[in-house]
Amino acid sequence: MSTVTALSRINELSKDELAMYRQLDPEQLPKHVAIIMDGNGRWAGQRRLQRFLGHQQGAESVQYVVETASRIDLPWLTLYAFSLENNLRRPETEVSFLMRLLRTYLVNNVKRMNENNVRIAYIGRIKDLPQEVQETMQWAAEQTARNTGTTLTLALNYGARVEIVDAVRDALSKIAAEWSGQLSLEELLGKLSEQHISKALYTAHMPDPDLVIRTSGEMRISNFLLWQIAYSEIYVTERFWPDFRGLHFLEAIREYQCRERRFGGLGNTPKAKAVEPEQILAH
Ligand code: IPE
Ligand code: IPE
Ligand code: MG
Repeated sequence: MSTVTALSRINELSKDELAMYRQLDPEQLPKHVAIIMDGNGRWAGQRRLQRFLGHQQGAESVQYVVETASRIDLPWLTLYAFSLENNLRRPETEVSFLMRLLRTYLVNNVKRMNENNVRIAYIGRIKDLPQEVQETMQWAAEQTARNTGTTLTLALNYGARVEIVDAVRDALSKIAAEWSGQLSLEELLGKLSEQHISKALYTAHMPDPDLVIRTSGEMRISNFLLWQIAYSEIYVTERFWPDFRGLHFLEAIREYQCRERRFGGLGNTPKAKAVEPEQILAH
């Protein structure tokens, strides 16, 4: 998207969002933000409502955050919507409600996605979702495929460990096919690199997340993007997902911009009095 278009979209932010955006360094915006959207059930419980209503309100938050992300021209937004474990461990009534809610969300919001230039994509074991859900998902992806702004990736029936197991299998079978009959098993295994695995993950085409946000206060990752978040900044807020809005998303980015990312290096450590390593090791 051209700078002119990007600037005009920023003017679509609400007054509060604009004030928060002005506190950000536009040169240091993250390229990829991933969100663990947690707390729908607790939000409902606090109001003595059924969990379903929490999920319904959570779907509203999704659209607010997607639109704010698209207005600041974020290239990649990945939302953890439904885990493999949710599918296995939650009651059938809740799972089938979530599936219906997903379809309704897509059908109701494709038009807005197009107005916001948002492309929809998915990661996870999609083939194991009900057929009619897959059909709506595919329809929404096709309807938005030509958009060039934010790519909204919904993680559905997603589990990071399974993703890694599948990726390793895939990478090894490609290496085995390439070197068929020429190398011993040990030599084949020696060829496997981090890059092979990264390229075999669902996320091969995206940069790793710069920032992971989790709502509702739990200090855990819950099997989300385990490989890809090796050096992501993590931001946890107590706020429940149904109360999370674009303003809070920008607040998380402001906090992200205060962090010093080191990637195992040294960063901006203050200058210290000169001392030779030998002097220290001699004691
Ligand atoms: C997140 O909210 C949505 C999904 C996992 C589908 P929860 O349903 O996990 O809400 P809490 O954690 O019980 O409050
Ligand atoms: C993580 O939330 C999964 C999603 C947000 C889709 P959970 O509610 O499933 O996580 P746990 O069970 O508290 O770790
Ligand atoms: Mg939860």
